[in-house]
Amino acid sequence: MDILHLAIFDLDGVIVDTAKYHYLAWKRLAEELGFQFTPAANERLKGVSRQRSLEILLEIGGLRKTEEERIQLAEKKNTWYVEYILQMDKSEILPGVLPFLQELKDRGIKIALGSASKNARTILDRLEITELFDVIVDGNLVSQAKPDPEVFLLGAELLGIPPRSAVVFEDAQAGIEAALRAGMKVVGVGDPSLLRNAHHVIPGFASFKVEDLLRLLEAAAPLEAHVNP
Ligand code: BG6
Ligand code: MG
Repeated sequence: MDILHLAIFDLDGVIVDTAKYHYLAWKRLAEELGFQFTPAANERLKGVSRQRSLEILLEIGGLRKTEEERIQLAEKKNTWYVEYILQMDKSEILPGVLPFLQELKDRGIKIALGSASKNARTILDRLEITELFDVIVDGNLVSQAKPDPEVFLLGAELLGIPPRSAVVFEDAQAGIEAALRAGMKVVGVGDPSLLRNAHHVIPGFASFKVEDLLRLLEAAAPLEAHVNP
């Protein structure tokens, strides 16, 4: 790749494990609607927008709701979710993330957030890391959900950096596809069997250094050809 100028981070599942709070809030909604929602089913909601998550939840419960009811249900879930995230603090930043961000900064590599969440700023504030980001693109700024590349392309554009000089860190398949469609390099964070198509997959940031990233990117095979247009 060209010289690395930008690292874009997904939030949920990469910087912090908010999936457990999303799960608790969706589960409470499911129970109120009269059905069970399991941790296994919660996997289907990772990286998916709030409205789409609700549609999947209703599908699981075999329920149909009007557009107006769906808006109210999503709002209700979000109120509970926000109650959980307001209890978070910096101890919940995933291992190794903070030193990695700091190292990028020290090397002059720009840092962006590329998240589907409309609560991203609240979470970054609770974690006390808002200031580390040169640009924050969240669910309030984009109209197309991942796997559309909008969220990542906008981050690069706002910083005036070409996509080919950017790398994305993602924990969800839809996000990996979005990064590839954006013409960026992508490092999956999590289980390699679930994160197919990423240029590389790392288990997390514990003991992962920028030097390791540069080595991986140097060796990355061009995968763009495998992506559907
Ligand atoms: C993504 C999460 O980052 O954000 C999804 O992986 C979530 O699970 C989505 O549904 C939207 O988040 P929010 O905070 O706007 O409801
Ligand atoms: Mg994620």
